[in-house]
Amino acid sequence: MSKVYVFDTTLRDGEQSPGASLNLEEKLKVAQQLERLNVDIVEAGFPIASEGDFEAVSAIAQRVRRPTIAALARATHLDIDRAWQAIRLARKPRIHTFIATSDIHLEHKLKKTRDQVLEQAVEAVRYARSLCEEVEFSAEDATRSDPDYLCRIFEATIEAGASVINIPDTVGYAVPDEFGALFREIIRRVPNSGKAIFSSHCHNDLGLGVANSLAAIRNGARQVECTVNGIGERAGNAALEEIVMALRTRREALQHHTDIRTEEIYRSSRLLSNLTGIFVQPNKAIVGKNAFAHEAGIHQDGMLKNALTYEIMTPQTVGIASSTLVLGKHSGRHALKKKYQELGYELEGEALEKAYWFFTKVADQKKEIYDEDLITIIQDGIKIIPDTYTLKYLQVIGGNQPVSTATVRLTRGEESWLDSATGDGPIDATYRAIDRITGLPGRLLDYTLTSVTRGKDALGEAFVHVLFNEKNYTGKAASTDMIDASARAYLNAVNKALHEKRVLGTVEVHAINSKV
Ligand code: KIV
Ligand code: ZN
Repeated sequence: MSKVYVFDTTLRDGEQSPGASLNLEEKLKVAQQLERLNVDIVEAGFPIASEGDFEAVSAIAQRVRRPTIAALARATHLDIDRAWQAIRLARKPRIHTFIATSDIHLEHKLKKTRDQVLEQAVEAVRYARSLCEEVEFSAEDATRSDPDYLCRIFEATIEAGASVINIPDTVGYAVPDEFGALFREIIRRVPNSGKAIFSSHCHNDLGLGVANSLAAIRNGARQVECTVNGIGERAGNAALEEIVMALRTRREALQHHTDIRTEEIYRSSRLLSNLTGIFVQPNKAIVGKNAFAHEAGIHQDGMLKNALTYEIMTPQTVGIASSTLVLGKHSGRHALKKKYQELGYELEGEALEKAYWFFTKVADQKKEIYDEDLITIIQDGIKIIPDTYTLKYLQVIGGNQPVSTATVRLTRGEESWLDSATGDGPIDATYRAIDRITGLPGRLLDYTLTSVTRGKDALGEAFVHVLFNEKNYTGKAASTDMIDASARAYLNAVNKALHEKRVLGTVEVHAINSKV
């Protein structure tokens, strides 16, 4: 069985999904989780795209040491220099350079001939190779390109020093047989193909991203490019967890393996959803809420007799803890610590204290505490961004009338502010009251509330996208009370905006006015 390298592009192609943007600390958290997941290559970003992207890629290159760190660059010296600057301190850096090869792109986008593009690609690879040992070349829109031309450009770029050749299905147009055949043909026809690893990069516009990736593997690809939860532009990219679990569950049929620690899959999925606010649908393969739930009586009966009847893989293989009642309000720190160990989290000192404090709050209001509750507690409790404001008090008067009133007390260090506002419903009123205190008016773009477990007393998770000073921030929080979760999610976004320090002046002025 040969190994397939997993190239994760969650932080580059995935982060291009609408609403998925992450700040530096969040990107670092995702990269560290990808390292735990044991991906081979982390594509950390596109450094020329923005200062923020550059900073994030260079922080990841310096702090995430096990995997190769790749940075994307168009086929120009300027892009390549920027990519190299960002990753040069990585333990294993890789420059990933690309140019479009389809006639559609050449004619309408690049306005260049095939020969000009080939020359530019070769020059880019040669230049990248003069800076970095490892260079990957991608032929954008490869699946709508002429295979003869692809063979020419791949032979020339391998000759120029590319050791990885990526064949992207940029627009998600391919179907499995055809995509597999393309790999077979290219590898057979390119005379120096033995000097490179061939890679697939599939988009999911026809829902075939994973099927196409598997077809590529069956026909010679030894690297797959994919994202956690399949996030990505439009319909997304091929989902990492689906490719990996297909290879593992059907190893006899597919005859390839990856080095992914599958027990880290669920945690990676949850972390990404929590940070981006892009949640997977309940029936999503591998990581959806219902992926291992057996509802029909006949299935439940079979499962009780023998899990093999309806289960092709166990939830534990992907790190989903079985949702049994675990702890109650009388459980102590020791039991909590032990339970977290079982779930794969090592909590000590302040982190344990924080989790315990949150746990007692939840346990006071909720009879049954499930593993999902504990995971939510810890993900909510791990503060990536320091809190500027903390919610101390919230009272809302509302009902089925159009106007609600909210009174909010926030603290910042030793200082405390109290203010009230009316609004169109309890959440609008709460957000307006918070805005009055912080002096930082936010425009709510998106709001989601999901229940983490079952029952009327379930823990609810609120997720918001808010625009402050024309920039989009996400916020999240969990609570057994939905207004409390909503208020704290909004405050989480406020704190992120404040953390970026661009708006502090305005805040100080207004906050002094309403100080009590
Ligand atoms: O989809 C695509 O073609 C890409 C390339 C930059 C690899 O993301
Ligand atoms: Zn892509």
